[in-house]
Amino acid sequence: MTDFDLTIRGGTVADDSKTFSADIGIKGDLITAVQPGLPAGRRDIDARGRLVLPGGIDTHCHVEQLSGMGRMTADDWYSASVSAAFGGTTCIVPFAAQHRGKSLKKVAADYAALAAEKSVIDYSYHVILTGTDDVTLREDLPELIRAGITSFKVYMTYDALKLDDYQMLEVLAVAAREKALCMVHAENTDMIRWITKRLLEQGMGAPKYHAVSHFDLAEAEATHRVAQLSRLFEVPILIVHVSAREAVGAIQMARQAGLQVFGETCSHYLVLTTDNMDLPGTEGAKFCCSPPLRDKAAQDSLWKALKQGTLQVLSSDHAPYRYDETGKLPYGPATTFKDVANGMPSLELRLAILFSEGVNKDRLTVPEFVALGSANHARMYGMYPRKGVLAVDADADVAIWDPDKEVTISASMLHDRAGYTPFEGMTLKGWPETVVSAGRVIVENGNLNAARGSGRFIARGVPEPCATDREVSTAASFFRSLSNAKLKGAS
Ligand code: URP
Ligand code: ZN
Ligand code: ZN
Repeated sequence: MTDFDLTIRGGTVADDSKTFSADIGIKGDLITAVQPGLPAGRRDIDARGRLVLPGGIDTHCHVEQLSGMGRMTADDWYSASVSAAFGGTTCIVPFAAQHRGKSLKKVAADYAALAAEKSVIDYSYHVILTGTDDVTLREDLPELIRAGITSFKVYMTYDALKLDDYQMLEVLAVAAREKALCMVHAENTDMIRWITKRLLEQGMGAPKYHAVSHFDLAEAEATHRVAQLSRLFEVPILIVHVSAREAVGAIQMARQAGLQVFGETCSHYLVLTTDNMDLPGTEGAKFCCSPPLRDKAAQDSLWKALKQGTLQVLSSDHAPYRYDETGKLPYGPATTFKDVANGMPSLELRLAILFSEGVNKDRLTVPEFVALGSANHARMYGMYPRKGVLAVDADADVAIWDPDKEVTISASMLHDRAGYTPFEGMTLKGWPETVVSAGRVIVENGNLNAARGSGRFIARGVPEPCATDREVSTAASFFRSLSNAKLKGAS
């Protein structure tokens, strides 16, 4: 009698440091053996010629969420989680967005209920923080962090979401005290505002001017600034969706100075440029996101930063808005770049793009692919080693990849509800064929076998960057710098 409910045998397994030949034995929702020569389980998958990898983790996607501009994403938890599963991702971490004046506690509770009802894969969520009032920062946020929501996102731009530097310090102090990871959307809001006004005055409202208004130096300046703010508390921060070469430089400088500044970039920045936005009419709106697409030199710097470890995670920033009045174009053909809903759909293609353009073009090794698409997300957000690795006692979340399969992308083959894909017509090499989530074979032969609501909430632990032995104490750090200042004054 076999010990295993499911075995995956004969493949090449990888973690974030090596590849090796092994079989995977699964019992219930857990991996119970990783070694060569396992006997077949009750269900056996032949993985010869295939890569057997930890299921992907996407820690930056917008799902069933109202944007700062008040636009609802086209995907809900069901369609997004299905789309993720078909793309080899077995855990998503979207955002419960606190819009101004709302109770963070209620926002999170409402969002958790939607997820529990619909997600077909395991999930957690971050919160987006717009309030810095006492209830939010002293009660609701610490309570959520202790309940496993150990990360939150803040914005330095978008009128409806942005925090000023003082508010940023307030939230960084909480992150330091509670050991939570602060994710930062770093763009200088006034630079963007100033340029936008001039562009619109001169009749330059076409979508391609979005990239001009969200100037690369606006991203670099805000990145540098928030890195300096984080110094006051010696608190780790993660700069999300890095797209500009100068922003990569700012992160590099901060890290060289010993700051715990981490970085994320997204699939679209690796394969698309501003040239993709130069289309007739409003077509370019399909490619508007913030920070925007950049040029080839920026793209090269992102690949290099992923390889060298300056950027640690590759996410989708899936922000699915339909190309119509409900999403991208609130004023139809008259919509200027200022009012285009920001973001692109890419949840399903995130990993295939990284594999095709990274591994199959010799920019990345397979272990680096695993790190960027799964293991580093698990570490960064407090889920390792439950997730992000194929090891005994880890969750049985597995993606079996055919490294040679070529697929030409079209919107009609995808499972999200955006109605278009910015990657239309692109041919990708390498594809996740079979996907296992918590021991269940949920994607096989192009079919889904997972019930709505069958995904589980993952209460996350302390994010790895925050879990240093060093005492990260707001007060300690603050008073240390205060006494340093006094000493200097006295000498
Ligand atoms: O353009 C983007 N990235 N839209 C989604 C919202 C955000 O700031 O991540
Ligand atoms: Zn953002
Ligand atoms: Zn985003």
